[in-house]
Amino acid sequence: MTTVAPKPVFDKGLANTIASESAMSWIDGQAGVLEYVGIDIDSLARNSTFEETVFLLWRGKLPTATELDAFTTTIQGQYELPEPMWDLIGSIPVDAGPMHATRTLVSALALHDPEADDPSPEASERKGIRLLARTPALIANFDRHRNGREFVKPDPSQNMATSFLTMLNGKPPTDTMARALDVCLILHADHGFNASTFAGLVTISTLSDMYSAVTSAIGTLKGPLHGGANEAVIHMLDKIGAIDKVEKYIRDKLDRKERVMGFGHRVYKAYDPRATYLKTFAKQLADDTGNQQLYEISNRIEQVMHEAVAAKGILPNVDFYSATTYYSIGLATDLFTPIFVMSRIAGWVGHCQEQLADNKLIRPRCEYVGPHEMPYVPIGER
Ligand code: ACO
Repeated sequence: MTTVAPKPVFDKGLANTIASESAMSWIDGQAGVLEYVGIDIDSLARNSTFEETVFLLWRGKLPTATELDAFTTTIQGQYELPEPMWDLIGSIPVDAGPMHATRTLVSALALHDPEADDPSPEASERKGIRLLARTPALIANFDRHRNGREFVKPDPSQNMATSFLTMLNGKPPTDTMARALDVCLILHADHGFNASTFAGLVTISTLSDMYSAVTSAIGTLKGPLHGGANEAVIHMLDKIGAIDKVEKYIRDKLDRKERVMGFGHRVYKAYDPRATYLKTFAKQLADDTGNQQLYEISNRIEQVMHEAVAAKGILPNVDFYSATTYYSIGLATDLFTPIFVMSRIAGWVGHCQEQLADNKLIRPRCEYVGPHEMPYVPIGER
């Protein structure tokens, strides 16, 4: 008896395909709502910490004080890099793009993890914790290396945001800056089956390993249509330079059918709720740090885009105001996407765990549009 396979559905870009189930984040793109495990993102940004948010995403509930303490201690206990990683950071060309450096260094962590190929849920969570805990030291110290500065080791008494900024700048951040980064890490931690998460899931669904999955995801996040957009936003703000140049710049761009970075989203056709929060936050930080002009230009871009394309559901996304926020924190523009990696590892690892718990190989089809029944012409007769 032959089995009749169901007819495949053609769905370019998988825009209308639900590929699996997840209990981590929920998005209502029409209403502009994002929840992690049922809790509104705004409420988490106001009240939670990145470490607590990771616990929520991975364990499906908010921790008790004791649980949070133990979880945080476990993460901090894994901050230190395996010794050979310091030489590897030092061997990366100083002009390398930080996303290339991040992808290479995160991938190399697998070489020093005896559990790299253990697929058990327990080992997978331990690997997730190591990835989460060690990536900030890789990024911050690559930045120090390229600027000719001495390495700074992570401080296990600090939370992830504070430890990262301390390594990066060689001195502890102010509480405001540490909290600003912590909030950004919360807001970027997970977002359903976005492109990088999906890339990671394709990898883990072959029963490859967590390091390979996260490396695939980093390569995918790098693109300017995804995580790379925040860096592109700052380049655009720089290029515009003054508030009275905004209208012409944006309208010319739209006339040329070019994309305005930091706007539009595959799922949100309403205001991205992460951008709602970040907009207020970016303004406050810009005022505090004397970066008002950057904020004013951003705000003006939003107005012009609103008049031109809001009716089509093209509104600011998380990358638009996170760019201004990161700039006000004093972060180098090309570190914006690596910092996104630091946060989104939470989502990637959580989704990989869900996939491993009920795995099915992810393998869509393509519509063949080439010719059939062609003769093979010997090379001398072509
Ligand atoms: N600027 C101008 N026009 C846009 C923009 C934009 N940022 N985004 C979408 N459009 C237009 C398209 O040109 C297209 O117009 P048309 O129908 O006249 O051809 C229409 O809106 C639909 O666009 P699609 O590309 O089909 O929509 P899709 O869902 O595939 O795109 C995407 C989503 C890739 C994010 C898109 O909005 C974009 O390129 N934005 C800019 C890059 C960006 O900010 N990425 C970050 C996203 S958030 C994140 O990944 C963390």
